[in-house]
Amino acid sequence: MREEIINLKNQAIAQISEAKSGEELEGLRVAYLGRQGKLNLLIKKIKEIPEAERVQFGLVLNEAKNTVIEQIAAKKTSFFESTRKWFDPTIPGIKPKRGHLHLVTQAIEEISKTFTSIGFARVRYPEVEWDWFTFAGLNMPENHPARDEWETFFVDTPPDKKYGQMVLTPHTSSGQIREMLRVKTPPIRMINIAKCYRRQIDISHYPMFHQFEGLVIDKGISVANLKGTLDYFALNYFGPERKTRLRPFHFQFTEPSFEVDVSCGICEGKGCRYCKEGWLELGGAGMVHPVVLKNGGINPEKFSGFAFGWGVERVLMMKAGLKIPDIRLLYGSDLRFLRQF
Ligand code: FA5
Repeated sequence: MREEIINLKNQAIAQISEAKSGEELEGLRVAYLGRQGKLNLLIKKIKEIPEAERVQFGLVLNEAKNTVIEQIAAKKTSFFESTRKWFDPTIPGIKPKRGHLHLVTQAIEEISKTFTSIGFARVRYPEVEWDWFTFAGLNMPENHPARDEWETFFVDTPPDKKYGQMVLTPHTSSGQIREMLRVKTPPIRMINIAKCYRRQIDISHYPMFHQFEGLVIDKGISVANLKGTLDYFALNYFGPERKTRLRPFHFQFTEPSFEVDVSCGICEGKGCRYCKEGWLELGGAGMVHPVVLKNGGINPEKFSGFAFGWGVERVLMMKAGLKIPDIRLLYGSDLRFLRQF
């Protein structure tokens, strides 16, 4: 009989240690210690035992029951310990790291908001474009030396009879004629923000970059409207302490043409090694050339307009100052750099 008790106890200990859940443990408790449990049923056999051995039988049986009770309690504690770290509501959760929009995307949104708030329509035109919209239609016929400035990537496909070779747009000005053909009758107020491509790479040039191109055409549009729009943008984007100026320049598709400068934010216009005598170059601008208006189907006798095209990365770097000393950092995917903004 003693052996039977010890076997039952050992069997219970083995099953308890294998138990995987609280429910399983409760099942074992009932199976061994319940009223009809295996150990309790043994008590009924006490009558079959010689009187002299009954005390000893009782002691062994009690010891077996106590052991099973202890083992169940210990196993319960171990379950609690192992699950506690998952369910303790007082332990702070692990916060997932929150990302943010890329700096260039942030700048595009800001620029877009600034111009749409004064009535410009945000548009985008093809990044893979025909020569005609990129050059010929903008008063730069085939073999014109002015084209060289754009250091263009040409797409190796057969040229179109009317529109010529296919190119990766080196500037957003290719959207000017597309917008004129879309709207047909002025007024036109376009802000075209898109990717551009050029065979360039250095501290301030990247093979893929973004430009934002403004185009306004209506009756009686003059350089004063252009300057007012530039000042509005500079005030909103750079803040009231920065100034703008127009410098005479030459573009084939505007007449007169300008280069737009913004006063340097690092030296506050005094002149330092990051600027040219207190000024930083923002980009080109001018009054739309009559030939371009005609190519867009608009009568230059009736309507006039201005256009400007600036680099998104350039304005971003001009605003950030020394925080972005090299354009290549913007596309290096180094999170230590990007997380600063
Ligand atoms: C143009 O592309 C003209 N289409 C601008 C224009 C539009 C003039 C409308 C008149 C009327 P430009 O080549 O200067 O101009 O480029 C304009 C700006 O684009 C530059 O000032 C610079 O900010 C940016 N840019 C040009 N090339 C790169 C490059 N490789 N990487 C980064 N930014 C660039």
